[in-house]
Amino acid sequence: MSHKIIIDCAPGTDDAMALIYAVASKEIEILAVHTVAGNVNVDHTTNNTQGVLAFLNRYDIPICRGSNMPLVVEPSFADDIHGANGMSGYEFDSFAPLSEKTALESYVDILRNTKEKVIIAAVGPLTNVAILLKAYPELTDKIEKIIIMGGGLKGGNITTTGEFNFYVDPHAAHVVIKSGLPVVLAGLDVTEVARLYKEDLEEIASYDERIGQLMLTINETSMSIYNSLGFGMSCTPNDVVPLVHLLHPE
Ligand code: RIB
Repeated sequence: MSHKIIIDCAPGTDDAMALIYAVASKEIEILAVHTVAGNVNVDHTTNNTQGVLAFLNRYDIPICRGSNMPLVVEPSFADDIHGANGMSGYEFDSFAPLSEKTALESYVDILRNTKEKVIIAAVGPLTNVAILLKAYPELTDKIEKIIIMGGGLKGGNITTTGEFNFYVDPHAAHVVIKSGLPVVLAGLDVTEVARLYKEDLEEIASYDERIGQLMLTINETSMSIYNSLGFGMSCTPNDVVPLVHLLHPE
């Protein structure tokens, strides 16, 4: 049984790894990828999404640009961790096409026409999802659940209590969490346990040279930072965790 999902993301290195994981899974049917401002601005997150899907030769998956602004607060970015372009400076050399539909238009078209319920995998700020829920509440019965990378029970990573995705757009997080829809939260207390070390990425490269080397390259900035903080050359693929939960809830 395959899960029909819409991925809402802000690549960003771990968002990119979540896309790689979802594309690799035979149990996931990606209906569309919607981009949002988060780690970097929406121009970069959209460009990076187009680059990742082209890298994976998945030109068939619709890519729809979403919001560049949180609902209320001013934008915040995480280019210190992900690099100025969101990919540690790595430049893709080909790009999957950008849909003419906005993320909101794509959400509405998919949810209005789907016969089966759809899962939203939201691994960036929840701006797009909040706008959908507020503007089209009648479509919520087509959403099976929302699996989210966000929040945390043991404090934050951008402030003592604020996790980045919720910090960037707290009003959107409130709307989604309070929506009444089934929500699975993969918070920092869970995702930061899923640390990947450089040797893990090198092992992946031994299975698939192209993808492993891409992961090593785009994680250069974050691995250096975590190393300087005493965690060793490692990265936390936060955004992969909600998708791992979807396929391996155990
Ligand atoms: O706090 C972790 C989250 O912030 C992840 O989604 C990562 O991509 C960053 O945006």
